Amino acid sequence: MTQLKDTIFIDGKAIGFTEGQTIMDAALSAQVYIPHLCHYPGLTPSGNCRLCVVEADGRMVAACTTAAREGQQVSNNTAELSAARKAITQMLFVEGNHICPSCEKSGNCKLQAMGYYLGMLEEHYPQFNPHRALDASHPDIFLDRGRCILCGLCVRSSHDVDKKNVFAIAGRGADARLIVNTVSGKLGDSNLDVGDLAANICPVGAIMFKEHGYVTPIGERIYDRQKISDVALNEHVLEQKGDKAR
Ligand code: SF4
Ligand code: FES
Repeated sequence: MTQLKDTIFIDGKAIGFTEGQTIMDAALSAQVYIPHLCHYPGLTPSGNCRLCVVEADGRMVAACTTAAREGQQVSNNTAELSAARKAITQMLFVEGNHICPSCEKSGNCKLQAMGYYLGMLEEHYPQFNPHRALDASHPDIFLDRGRCILCGLCVRSSHDVDKKNVFAIAGRGADARLIVNTVSGKLGDSNLDVGDLAANICPVGAIMFKEHGYVTPIGERIYDRQKISDVALNEHVLEQKGDKAR
């Protein structure tokens, strides 16, 4: 097979890319979905969630942080990768308090949608049931750390887009936790605003608006109607048009 310049092959399909693009960038630009939770169009990738694991030239790598290279052979749809992604999703579920039937984010939650996408039928691992502080000090927004998956999207969007630096992740590994960059550590003492990207980007129910419960009925929410893959590909198109990630 002739290898085209600036072309990678994802599951055998030739996909053009431009200098500086990651495997994720190239895939989404070609409307090829690679599962992801901490990637967001227009934000610097972080490699936090590992959902985007692919096999590139024989190595398991994160598609969102690995540069596309000419002639690269990438596997995205294999039984082994699906099993790895499902195990990661199951771990994310048990590490936090993701009780979908009682969560206002249900139907709009990317973690829940990922579970459906990957055919996850049970959590498999024992529940951690963590006790983490809930911060309701902000007049319009609350932060439920028990549902935080440490994707870092609020951190990066607040820093890079909103230019406020409201959030940070402190500690590493099992000690990692989301903190608020105020002297008190309280969200109510920050300048987070409901219009900020950081207030709207959380993929799970950890950053939520107060007094807006069940405005859209269950069954009519984003992922009740569309697969996470279709939503993600559409998000990428919107970002390319300049409609997302201001
Ligand atoms: Fe990600 Fe939400 Fe946790 Fe922020 S609060 S790190 S956006 S899960
Ligand atoms: Fe690549 Fe999260 S999307 S590590």
